[in-house]
Amino acid sequence: MKYRQFGQLDWKVSALGFGAMRLPILDSDSAKIDEELAKAMVRKAIDGGVNYIDTAYPYHHGQSEGFVARVLKDGYREKVRVATKMPSWLVKTADDFDRLLEEQLERLEIEQLDYYLLHALNARYWKTYQDLHVFDWAERKISEGKFKYLGFSFHDEYPVFHEILNGYDSWSFCQIQYNFMDINYQAGQKGLKEAAEKGLAVVVMEPLRGGSLAKTPVPDAIARVWAQSTCAWKSAEWALQWVWNQPEVSVVLSGMSTMKQVEENLISAGRSQIGSLNAEDEELIEKVRSAYHSPIPISCTQCEYCLPCPSDVAIPRIFSLYNDAIMYDSAGGPRWAYANQIKAENRADNCIECGECEVACPQNIEIINWLKIAGEYLSAGEGT
Ligand SMILES: NC(=O)c1ccc[n+]([C@@H]2O[C@H](COP(=O)([O-])OP(=O)(O)OC[C@H]3O[C@@H](n4cnc5c(N)ncnc54)[C@H](OP(=O)(O)O)[C@@H]3O)[C@@H](O)[C@H]2O)c1
Ligand code: SF4
Ligand code: SF4
Repeated sequence: MKYRQFGQLDWKVSALGFGAMRLPILDSDSAKIDEELAKAMVRKAIDGGVNYIDTAYPYHHGQSEGFVARVLKDGYREKVRVATKMPSWLVKTADDFDRLLEEQLERLEIEQLDYYLLHALNARYWKTYQDLHVFDWAERKISEGKFKYLGFSFHDEYPVFHEILNGYDSWSFCQIQYNFMDINYQAGQKGLKEAAEKGLAVVVMEPLRGGSLAKTPVPDAIARVWAQSTCAWKSAEWALQWVWNQPEVSVVLSGMSTMKQVEENLISAGRSQIGSLNAEDEELIEKVRSAYHSPIPISCTQCEYCLPCPSDVAIPRIFSLYNDAIMYDSAGGPRWAYANQIKAENRADNCIECGECEVACPQNIEIINWLKIAGEYLSAGEGT
């Protein structure tokens, strides 16, 4: 295992961290963790040098934190640092802070947590936390020994990231989605560099874009590009090495779901290194990026000139979900996001076909028609 500096803390974190969000399950029910296999996997990772475990209140329908408590018995707790997250969407009043943290400590069967994150910060949750003076509370809890370090995980646009990063002086770390396809998405590379420059440890999540960059069989167009390299890495390793190549990254979390993935990713982490990719490798990755982009059906650039729509249809967001589904040949994530992250009043079926957006769109996209296609596709399977 390779170890890397964790921001300004006097601690080295393993290059690979274990994300306890995609553990193996039974009966296709994510509330039913396959404990025997999952325990063997997490312990294998720890035995292989992993010293950072990431969990959260909602993972596996609330079962992940309790699972982490059980897997860390028999001396494993001392070998790792544990991170969990305050479920921001459940915070309504300042009393919720204590209630949620105490419940999580109980689930995790520990008195002091190493790392506590405000989960999935966006502009809305950020405002709630500020209104409720979360930092006064967090500093009190740190001095009481309930947790050691405060950080945040992030899901919104870069300007919001910039504001949050600079809105508090004592963040120890942040967690961002980052992979070779998402350089300019959410916090992106700009946010990564800015956070590292400020001395925060940066924890990377979704390095394989939730698995879509390692999907097998690899789509033909992508496989043809990887085959141009003399290096025999699989697509998962290419994606992971691309993240580890960068000095600003402290730890890369992977939500491994099989023992084979644990074994492969431990080997990859063992050969990871800052600056290990050369110009030829970068060129190859650029070609893979283009190959992923080539089947994009809607040429939307997310410029938002079409907004606001008089019917409040979230046009660019809907197009982005649809494009993702087609590009990665994977409908599950986008369909879930459409159902859970786009409010009913912002979905495609609210379009009244007034045509205002089509006049404004610099890409001349047939928005009305594409909204019908995308909306139908993204809502397929709803209610089943
Ligand atoms: N704070 C937040 O808001 C937030 C959001 C997302 C994630 N996270 C955390 O970050 C962690 C990492 O994110 P992620 O789980 O999305 O990471 P990821 O590495 O992008 O995706 C994990 C998936 O990639 C596939 N995979 C992993 N290793 C592989 C290998 N060697 N070969 C082939 N496929 C492989 C598996 O997919 P299959 O299961 O399909 O095989 C696995 O479930 C999560 O587990 C969670 O702890 C936090
Ligand atoms: S055509 Fe539909 S999506 Fe476009 S502005 Fe009018 S209501 Fe909104
Ligand atoms: S104006 Fe056109 S390109 Fe810009 S976000 Fe809207 S649909 Fe996309």
